[in-house]
Amino acid sequence: MENDAIINIRADIPLLEEVIYLDAASTTPTPKPVVEAMCDYFYNYNSNTGRGAYRMAVKSTKEFEHARYRISKFINCRSSEVIFTKNTTEAINLVANGLDFKKGDSIILSNIEHHSNFIPWLNLKKKQGIKLKIIKADKYGVVDPTDIESAVDSNTKLITTTHVSNAIGSVQPVNEIGKIADENNVLYMVDAAQSAGHMKVDVKETKADFITFPGHKGLLGPIGTGFLYCGEQSVEKLEPMNLGGGTVLDVTETEFSFEDVPARFEGGTQNIAGFIGLGVAVDYIDRIGLERIEKHSKKLTSKLFQEINDINNTIVYGSPENIYGIVAFNIDGVNAHDVAKILDELKNICVRSGHHCAIPAIRHIGAYELGGTVRASLHYYNTEEEIQIFGETLREISKFFGE
Ligand code: ALA
Repeated sequence: MENDAIINIRADIPLLEEVIYLDAASTTPTPKPVVEAMCDYFYNYNSNTGRGAYRMAVKSTKEFEHARYRISKFINCRSSEVIFTKNTTEAINLVANGLDFKKGDSIILSNIEHHSNFIPWLNLKKKQGIKLKIIKADKYGVVDPTDIESAVDSNTKLITTTHVSNAIGSVQPVNEIGKIADENNVLYMVDAAQSAGHMKVDVKETKADFITFPGHKGLLGPIGTGFLYCGEQSVEKLEPMNLGGGTVLDVTETEFSFEDVPARFEGGTQNIAGFIGLGVAVDYIDRIGLERIEKHSKKLTSKLFQEINDINNTIVYGSPENIYGIVAFNIDGVNAHDVAKILDELKNICVRSGHHCAIPAIRHIGAYELGGTVRASLHYYNTEEEIQIFGETLREISKFFGE
């Protein structure tokens, strides 16, 4: 049963025949049904949404909004709480720039955030004089909620953390942090870039006001899609940042009034085919089942960790009990990019190497001087056999460098 499901997904992604793809944290390959839905749009009803009265444009609008509906059901919220963006970064920037922060307000974040959840806040600090309280994760890359609780004061306006660190793979206690934010009447934003599609992200359980999602990673949707969950309790606090066509109800030469949510946040023509594809991708994940994905990915993550850890001259980051889908490592004394290139050249193994757009996290785990880490990241389409080949190849490489 399990094997059949994995065979099916692999049949939908032909490039998995060519390579051992262990770079899901960067982006995932797009399965056929998602590509086909986009082709259907391009071939049969390519037209703009929310603008035309002709039948083809009505169909386009209907399919686009249906995708939003599918996504909302998947994360357990209303359609109006799903704002389409081009990626997670854009969603985070919308929150950072769309909330009305004042000089002296403080924002709590962790030191293992992706740059996309770091730079927008550093920029606000520089431009608006907001204060940043940066909470240090432990040596395994996990943030302690009590450290966050102690940092909250009357100036705190927002707490933000990643769900799963893209650099370390460490899973953060987002429900506990959400509870702290809720009890202190502070907004909470979760960056779900590495958890969405890999594990359940239920907006009600997390008690977050904002959750930012990529379409093209765990959800298996197309590149150029992402979205922001913005709870209806917080939406009036958020100013749209991309004004123009589709965002207003009425305009005079001196005034304008905003459209309802989420349209007011989605100025200009959207990535219509992409979001229709994303709707299909979310259904695809739903059919496999998140519980099944989680079980398989946990098993593979632990095997991956073990394979790497068993080699004498490797350094593996994070705690094996608390990383998920991502294993970051180095061969002692060897540049991370060299290891990644050799893995590719020897056995067509695709992994990412470097700082992973998370330099503070890389410094935190002490891998900065090594040029960052090698990062293997997986999804449901990966197999135990692939992890085995990865382990054997890495051992060969490490022997060459003197294991
Ligand atoms: N944010 C993506 C990664 O971690 C691109 O690789």
